Amino acid sequence: MYRRCNISVTVNDVERQAEIEPRMLLVHFLRETLNLTGTHIGCDTSQCGACTVLVNGEAVKSCTMLAVQADGSRITTVEGLGEPKRLHPIQQGFWEKHGLQCGFCTPGVLMAMVGLLRENASPTEAEVREALEGVICRCTGYQFIVDAVMYAASEMAKTAHAVAESHSVPIGEGE
Ligand code: FES
Ligand code: FES
Repeated sequence: MYRRCNISVTVNDVERQAEIEPRMLLVHFLRETLNLTGTHIGCDTSQCGACTVLVNGEAVKSCTMLAVQADGSRITTVEGLGEPKRLHPIQQGFWEKHGLQCGFCTPGVLMAMVGLLRENASPTEAEVREALEGVICRCTGYQFIVDAVMYAASEMAKTAHAVAESHSVPIGEGE
């Protein structure tokens, strides 16, 4: 019998507290305790990446981390990315470029690629492929996933440019 621990995490902007066994993996905490089943389990060897989530902004395979290690962290799962009427650019990219087939790997791939785009907003195709090394897709052959990530990067760059433009003060004004 294990002593149970209290943890407190912010998941998809909502503060969550729970009493759990210290041996519980983060992926089980998300799926079974919080009922966030978008995070998938595809292997028991930490290879497939289906369980990837963001922990404090960094892509992490949630089957490689204990839930207690995440105490105090901010976690984003696929449920926190976008909504059907307001998709995140990476989700839109997968829609536009047919980046999924069965969809089993997709939540993990999305989160891993959001992690990549946070670090590198305009990756080359080679950099996207390198970042994809930690995730396994059995269906797509990866090309459409790469196309989807490149689409998302270009859409996010356009939005960033538009925001920068809207904040810029024309010469001669604002003085
Ligand atoms: S379930 Fe975590 S890497 Fe496969
Ligand atoms: S879309 Fe089926 S495993 Fe990736």
